[in-house]
Amino acid sequence: MPGNGEAILEVRDLVKHYPLTRGILFKKQVGAVHAVDGVSFDLRRGETLGIVGESGCGKSTVAKLLVNLERPTSGRILYKGEDVTRLSGRALKAVRRNIQMVFQDPYTSLNPRMTVGDIIGEPYDIHPEVAPKGDRRAKVRELLDVVGLSPEHINRYPHQFSGGQRQRIGIARGLALRPEIIVADEPVSALDVSVQAQVVNLLERLQDEFDLAYVFIAHDLSVVRHISDRVAVMYLGRFAEAGTDAQIYEHATHPYTQALLSAVPVPDPRARAGRDRIILTGDVPSPAHPPSGCRFRTRCWKAREKCARVVPPLEIPDWFLEGGGPEAHASACHYAEERPATPDVPPTE
Ligand SMILES: Nc1ncnc2c1ncn2[C@@H]1O[C@H](COP(=O)(O)OP(=O)(O)OP(=O)(O)O)[C@@H](O)[C@H]1O
Ligand code: SF4
Ligand SMILES: [Mg+2]
Repeated sequence: MPGNGEAILEVRDLVKHYPLTRGILFKKQVGAVHAVDGVSFDLRRGETLGIVGESGCGKSTVAKLLVNLERPTSGRILYKGEDVTRLSGRALKAVRRNIQMVFQDPYTSLNPRMTVGDIIGEPYDIHPEVAPKGDRRAKVRELLDVVGLSPEHINRYPHQFSGGQRQRIGIARGLALRPEIIVADEPVSALDVSVQAQVVNLLERLQDEFDLAYVFIAHDLSVVRHISDRVAVMYLGRFAEAGTDAQIYEHATHPYTQALLSAVPVPDPRARAGRDRIILTGDVPSPAHPPSGCRFRTRCWKAREKCARVVPPLEIPDWFLEGGGPEAHASACHYAEERPATPDVPPTE
């Protein structure tokens, strides 16, 4: 089963604050956007970790930190035991080769003036050791075939492809250097629903073929479930709950996860009728001024005085541990409980 192997990526207390400045000539820092604020997880060889959460909760920032497009404010990212955040030069380049990214928007992430062959082969300019010049065309043709596109289309331009095909080109480029890890930031969100499943199926096939580990980011819980071995639910820069897909989808204990799950469309009308929909009120607070204690408290119908005072750690609740069942998993809520709670009082400020 995937996910039982060694951890190839260990992320510890990852923090990214973007400074908020004022003034043009003499910039003065007046605060910080707490985009990511203490995220920890392991990624094992060949598994998929899904990260879900609403817009602005920090998902893309986590992705950029993992592939080194951004440097963290603090925290560690260990790749096979080595702290990537401290590497530079050749050592960093070698690690970056193994952690590749697939972007959300296949319409803007591909250079319209480059042929598909040049786009997919571009990573070889930085890592010529993977494909010497004479081999590149052959390698690119092979990659086109692997992602289900015709190798004959190597000289076409991005606009000559559909959205789904363009995402296949993005995936081929991500595979070019034969990475061990692919960080896919909303890889299907910009695609039609009918095409989404095809791209997800392709990613699953490639995972088996190349023993890839994925960090798969989405804002939609139903998309993530299909592909993920484990799921982390993110809210305002932190993980609210994390566990296997069965633990999260059938035994959610965090009110935020329960609210997200209650909004997932259910095709069976009988199941729909027996389900309480939790409508979250209030906006997501600004990450420049996150609430004290539990960040979800301004929208949580269960919030009590302790929630404003004490940050709930992402831990397995005691009652879960005592029960010893397979559903025990971590939740960052002081009052975590499995019962699908229904809000009967509006959230307090
Ligand atoms: N370079 C930057 N400078 C300042 N703030 C930033 C920067 N990049 C992101 N942010 C802020 O950090 C927060 C998290 O952004 P991020 O893009 O990671 O969220 P997200 O979960 O990917 O959202 P979405 O679902 O909309 O893609 C947001 O408030 C965003 O405005
Ligand atoms: S810690 Fe409090 S505010 Fe946060 S989710 Fe749990 S009950 Fe709600
Ligand atoms: Mg994003």
